[in-house]
Amino acid sequence: MKLIRVLLVLMLVFPVMVAEAAHALARLYYAGRKEGYTLYALSAYRSYATQKSLYTYWVNTRGTAYASKYVARPGYSEHQTGLAVDMTSARMQMGLYASFDQTPEGKWMLQQAHRYGFIVRYPKGKEKITGYNYEPWHLRYVGVKEATTMKQKNWTFEEWWAER
Ligand code: DAL
Ligand code: ZN
Repeated sequence: MKLIRVLLVLMLVFPVMVAEAAHALARLYYAGRKEGYTLYALSAYRSYATQKSLYTYWVNTRGTAYASKYVARPGYSEHQTGLAVDMTSARMQMGLYASFDQTPEGKWMLQQAHRYGFIVRYPKGKEKITGYNYEPWHLRYVGVKEATTMKQKNWTFEEWWAER
């Protein structure tokens, strides 16, 4: 079909979030709205070039040690897979801060994300395992079954991978 071909070409030219993850994100968003929590997706798919400029910006601003705890090197970010998304809220003034987990929107999201197939990829207390500082805003789509297992067992993606 012509439309499908046009869409496929558009996806090649403008890569976006993986469709299944994007649908799940929409479901998470509407579920939150229904409960009175409005979440915003700040950053989802990122190209190599975008990740590179982000990483370079933080290296130049705060140094390599700081940057490498918060931003993946270009080529190593989950955002480049189209499976990850950074979430925020109006209360956070659309910023990404650890205190998101103290807000009603953040608390709801941390409790509910697995039901829509997302894990909080860089949890508190697991920094040594994930290699990154706590990022309550960064969700990664893995599917409902896997996300639920990880949530119930309090596993990071790395721990789940080792145990599975
Ligand atoms: N903030 C995460 C680690 C990333 O840049 O992919
Ligand atoms: Zn992120």
